Amino acid sequence: MRWVLRLPHPTGVLQRALEPRPGECVLEIGPGLGQAATSVATWIAPQGRLDVLDVQQVMLDETMRRAERMDIDNITPTLAAAEEPLPYPEASFDAAYLSGVLGEIPDRQRTLNELHRVLKRGGRLVVAEIAGDPDFVPFGSLRRQAALAGFELDRRLGPSLAYMARFLAV
Ligand SMILES: C[S@@+](CC[C@H](N)C(=O)[O-])C[C@H]1O[C@@H](n2cnc3c(N)ncnc32)[C@H](O)[C@@H]1O
Repeated sequence: MRWVLRLPHPTGVLQRALEPRPGECVLEIGPGLGQAATSVATWIAPQGRLDVLDVQQVMLDETMRRAERMDIDNITPTLAAAEEPLPYPEASFDAAYLSGVLGEIPDRQRTLNELHRVLKRGGRLVVAEIAGDPDFVPFGSLRRQAALAGFELDRRLGPSLAYMARFLAV
């Protein structure tokens, strides 16, 4: 299934959902081959910083190689499992996003709780999901779990079978 990661990413939609601004600190969980990461890092450059966290070193290596090829130097990789406490202090990030990742994480609620902790109040969380992915997270269950973690739905782009949902950490 690795070829799936090579399909073009809807970066325009991600930009609309995430609204990254130059100078912001942003977190991506599960960057895969780094397609979204290199776009986001460019949008927040030159002062902004993107942290990418993945449970597989090979994915972090792919992301960093891609960034190097594109002369992008504001990405910091971290090897960790997202169901563990995230290795960042509270209120570290202006925004965070996960694309096709949440359903692969064994304890989704814990990850959402942790994302709430590391985001600044009012910070944005964008979750992208597409049906057909064996780990697809239905929008309704995401919304319920996000609310339990302290997130408020701000908007959803796309239909319920291929959505990007944006929440605010309240
Ligand atoms: C299906 S890929 C999606 C990659 C990328 N976000 C995209 O849209 O192409 C899932 C990614 O999440 C990572 N991942 C899976 N489970 C994880 C976990 N428990 N903690 C951190 N990363 C995880 C995988 O290593 C992989 O990079």
